Amino acid sequence: MAESDITTSENGAGTRSFPMRRSGCPFDVPAEYEALRAAEPVSRAVLADGSAVWLVARHADVQAGLVDPRISCDGSIPGIPMPGGSGVDKVGRRSSFVRMDPPEHDVYRKLLAPDFTMRKARALRPWIQGIVDSALDDLADSGQPADLVRLVALPVPSTVVCGILGVPNSDHEFFQSRAAVMLHRGSTREDLRNAVMELRTYMVGLLKDKRQNPGDDVLTKLANAPAELELDDVDLAGAAQSVLNASHEATVNMIALGALVLTENRDALAELAADPTRWPAAVDELLRYLGIGDLLSPRIAKEDVEIGGQRIAAGEGLYFLTGSANRDKEVYDDPATFDIHRPNRGHLAFGYGLHQCLGQNLARVELEVVFESLFRRFPDLRPAVPIDQLSYKHDSALFGVHELPVVW
Ligand code: HEM
Repeated sequence: MAESDITTSENGAGTRSFPMRRSGCPFDVPAEYEALRAAEPVSRAVLADGSAVWLVARHADVQAGLVDPRISCDGSIPGIPMPGGSGVDKVGRRSSFVRMDPPEHDVYRKLLAPDFTMRKARALRPWIQGIVDSALDDLADSGQPADLVRLVALPVPSTVVCGILGVPNSDHEFFQSRAAVMLHRGSTREDLRNAVMELRTYMVGLLKDKRQNPGDDVLTKLANAPAELELDDVDLAGAAQSVLNASHEATVNMIALGALVLTENRDALAELAADPTRWPAAVDELLRYLGIGDLLSPRIAKEDVEIGGQRIAAGEGLYFLTGSANRDKEVYDDPATFDIHRPNRGHLAFGYGLHQCLGQNLARVELEVVFESLFRRFPDLRPAVPIDQLSYKHDSALFGVHELPVVW
């Protein structure tokens, strides 16, 4: 462990700062995780605001903790680490079911789950293919080098989620501009709050409209939620917004970083070109290998619990390091190697337990279609600059790359 990552703090001597930074190869999770898994699998760390959290680093402990009912996801409990601010809005409402516990969480999840099954995702494949082809047309028509983030990684997930939610085409620009504010690293808290509120107001209007003009989409489903669920339009708009927020940045970053990893693994690309049935396994390996979401699973202990032999007191916050779990030698041979042949379905890139990613079936199909189509059409696609000169999202909740200039 690098000496510089150890700091002393008022929360206890010898605590380390979190998040830790990726160094060396940008595809590798922070090097410190390996030492944590070996020597201190549940360890104390200090966040930028000075508060202390527990970091859970081993695969088995992450899985066990994420299904433990004594460990809460409730964003309104004081002390829960919330990278994007508290889970409570100005009027004291919890803004997202993503940060609720049962039974409230289950109400939303049951309402939305039928729209995100594997069968639904597979049925959407031809439609997603059309969206991807159109983005690739834009890439082909642009000069070289072209930014893969702007032309492909950003528009594909946003067009897909708009379509699934039922946002009219004419409003995509409004929708995308607010989503862009939410993703932009220079956005202030005020910008973020305004973007969230504008989207909320917009969604409430759209819910009313869907009651008059129903479509085959998630907003129509939400607009007609059974009365006995007792959800008002602000709750329902919040649910739609949660799907938008949760879906967008993770998919954008996986498209850009995944494409970059593939350009560095030409043998794997050749195998995938020869046998496209290997793409689903390759996508899961990219998800495991890149481990972009270590800040996605913040929790708080509601009671005293023990994880990996360590006692966690009620009221203490935790981060479950899924990126570290995905590199655990106890589960994966040679975990730092990108290997499209490894059995890797047990990876935790989509989280685990009750809050496991609602959109994982859709995300897998999107990633498969994007990568397969991108490298079929541009087999020589490569970054226009050395990968260590790209600007990476070290300070975001999700690791990624800001721009990816490519040539082909
Ligand atoms: C590759 C892309 C994606 C990754 C890596 C990813 C990752 C995750 C992770 C780790 C969680 C769990 C958070 C927690 O433990 O609290 C999560 C939850 C969630 N994801 Fe995804 N996600 C992706 C794409 C999507 C897409 C495309 C959608 C929807 C269209 C989506 C919707 C959601 C929702 C709604 C939740 C909250 C579920 C709940 O709390 O019950 N995600 N995602």
